[in-house]
Amino acid sequence: MRIDIITLFPDMLDGPLSASILARARARGLVTVAVHNLRDHAEGRHRTTDEPPFGGGGGMIMTPEPLARAVEALRAPDARVILLDPAGRRFTQEVARELAARPHLVLVCGRYEGVDERVRAHVVDEELSIGDYVLNGGELAALVVTEAVVRLLPGVLGDLGAPERDSFARGLLEHPHYTRPEVFRGARVPEALLSGDHGRIARWRRVMSVWRTWQRRPDLLVVADLSPEEQKWVDGFSQGRRPSDFIE
Ligand code: 6GU
Repeated sequence: MRIDIITLFPDMLDGPLSASILARARARGLVTVAVHNLRDHAEGRHRTTDEPPFGGGGGMIMTPEPLARAVEALRAPDARVILLDPAGRRFTQEVARELAARPHLVLVCGRYEGVDERVRAHVVDEELSIGDYVLNGGELAALVVTEAVVRLLPGVLGDLGAPERDSFARGLLEHPHYTRPEVFRGARVPEALLSGDHGRIARWRRVMSVWRTWQRRPDLLVVADLSPEEQKWVDGFSQGRRPSDFIE
């Protein structure tokens, strides 16, 4: 897979793309990520990329021509060109899976005041937002999309981090995790996890994943992919039952 990112602030991206799992995926050739400075596609003595809005008001608007030239320089026939903008479709794990199946993404970072409206229809294929809050620009959003997509590519995560085990892959939150010590400030690790009984451990984890989702994100249970048994636990929780009622 190839990901091209167009931005006025390449420095905001270089660090995160050069650390940890993203760095390793790039070094292993599992993904190519390239950052492009929009300024390189601007013309004139001042290399202008933004102008005040027609009609007045505050802020600056990104002009369409440099964005169009930057995209055209990168767009291959199989590319999906995405504008990161608060007005975009909400980015979710499902969208990440969709994008991970594509060979080439071009991520265009808008600045917060906005891009010329004609960019939406004439330059990009779609618009994504990462959530309902305001960022200064699309740079951090492009990093979020890049990380969420790259970790789904074959070979990027080792066996232990298999993405199909992620909570959101099943539409549930993760069960609690524990490591050493067995007692921390008086709080013990749940006995089931120390039992060495793999069936019991797996059941504890499934019950606790459903419980945690029921407690914290009941909205997820509406669309979660639940087995009949898991649905029974949900119904039980709604009637006042507790996880211990369903564990062993
Ligand atoms: Cl994609 N851009 C900006 N500027 N703010 C955001 C966003 C994007 N997603 C959430 N907030």
